[in-house]
Amino acid sequence: MSENITVIGAGTMGAGIAQVAAIHGYRTTLCDVSEDQLASAVGAIEASVEKGIARGKTPEEARERVQSGLTTESDLQQACQGATVVIEAVPEDLGLKQSIFQKVEEVIADDALLASNTSSIPISKLAANLKSPDRFVGMHFFNPVPIMALIEVIRGESTSDGAIDRTVDLAHRLSKEPIVVKDSPGFATSRLGLVIGLEAIRMLEDGVASAVEIDKAMELGYRHPMGPLKLTDLVGLDVRLAIAEVLHEQIGEQFRPPQLLREMVEKGHLGKKTGQGFHDWSA
Ligand code: CAA
Repeated sequence: MSENITVIGAGTMGAGIAQVAAIHGYRTTLCDVSEDQLASAVGAIEASVEKGIARGKTPEEARERVQSGLTTESDLQQACQGATVVIEAVPEDLGLKQSIFQKVEEVIADDALLASNTSSIPISKLAANLKSPDRFVGMHFFNPVPIMALIEVIRGESTSDGAIDRTVDLAHRLSKEPIVVKDSPGFATSRLGLVIGLEAIRMLEDGVASAVEIDKAMELGYRHPMGPLKLTDLVGLDVRLAIAEVLHEQIGEQFRPPQLLREMVEKGHLGKKTGQGFHDWSA
């Protein structure tokens, strides 16, 4: 099925999703309230496409597909005109996401698919105030989006089988591997990933080992491609804190955010994107 894809939010995830959609030949609109954010997302997409081409992972025609098929728009409702799929990737804030989808629903075609890239907010909560919650799904991508193979497809209480099938089909067309999971707190990936990530931070607080050693433990001892503290730096400490807060409230004590994580976020040490997290990324 040919789709026109609008991605809302031009942060790391939104830019990655838009890149993957555009290089697979979909007409793609990337939307963000900030023109600066849109410009920096386009720069990041172009650089990543060039890297992919240089590595032989991305076909040469991807460059042209991005140039001709990817547009940016700062007005939300304008960005959704003519869209057949809307994928939201804004920060983990229930009110913000709900208000975006309400505005989107005012202008979108009746048969358009609405998806959220949320890592932790229940899909059924996000869809609660929508007129047509049956076409609402979770479509959870992973960072770095152009490289990571998985899309976690989340079925909300009201999501129709048709919406799930269409999302699974789209995931395959984006060269990703989908899994379909129930709408339960943290789905499959955030719930499991956070357990290791938060415990690694508590181990650092307890002085069990240094950040480098804790990461090495999982890289060399368990063959994880990246240790849990490096991964937290990659994802963003603010992003992980927001997910932990949701899971702490919904599941319980094992997801209570460690004090060290809160302090680092307060200091603006958000990981790779700010140059400083559990590791130094300034170089
Ligand atoms: N486009 C396409 N392919 C690219 C590319 C690009 N721009 N850049 C690199 N690649 C390819 C490389 O060619 C390479 O392919 P092969 O393995 O076939 O050779 C592969 O991607 C890895 O690239 P690198 O060699 O440059 O990097 P690396 O080996 O150091 O791996 C990594 C980097 C992929 C990030 C790896 O460390 C990793 O998998 N880390 C874990 C990432 C992870 O767990 N992400 C999930 C985070 S949780 C999340 O995102 C969800 C959430 O809700 C917050």
